Amino acid sequence: MKHLLIVIVMIFVWINGFIWLCKQIDPRNKYQTDVEYKYVRYCAGCHGNSGEGNGRIGRFKKLDPADLTDSNLWTMHDDTQLLESISDGKNDMPAFHYYLNPKEQRELLGYIKNTFRP
Ligand code: HEC
Repeated sequence: MKHLLIVIVMIFVWINGFIWLCKQIDPRNKYQTDVEYKYVRYCAGCHGNSGEGNGRIGRFKKLDPADLTDSNLWTMHDDTQLLESISDGKNDMPAFHYYLNPKEQRELLGYIKNTFRP
């Protein structure tokens, strides 16, 4: 009977340890906010961590991603146009409505605006 109790406690400890480990590995924990994580996951490959359009995939495939720190981009387009580009894509920019719902797209636009707009 005592042994059974020890085994149950051990299993409990293992499961807790496993859950703890999973949380450590979860990439989301590296970023302050969910939207920051989404930018890194979906956008930074092309637009770069600093938003300058110098992400690795963008450079490698010579896609010429928009420089999100360029003030012209923000003066020449309003939110509706930019959201449309994010949702439906534009030239080499892929459409994101497959991956991100409209609310997430708006959050990402808000994020890039606050972070990169000069
Ligand atoms: C595969 C590379 C790639 C990825 C990934 C990517 N973009 Fe782009 N993006 C581009 C390219 C290329 C352009 C330039 C399109 C053009 O004007 O021809 C662009 C343009 C833009 C523009 C300007 C659109 C306009 O109307 O001029 C915005 C805003 C933008 N991207 C936001 C994002 C956001 C937000 C994400 C993540 C959800 C993202 N991009 C992911 C390649 C990418």
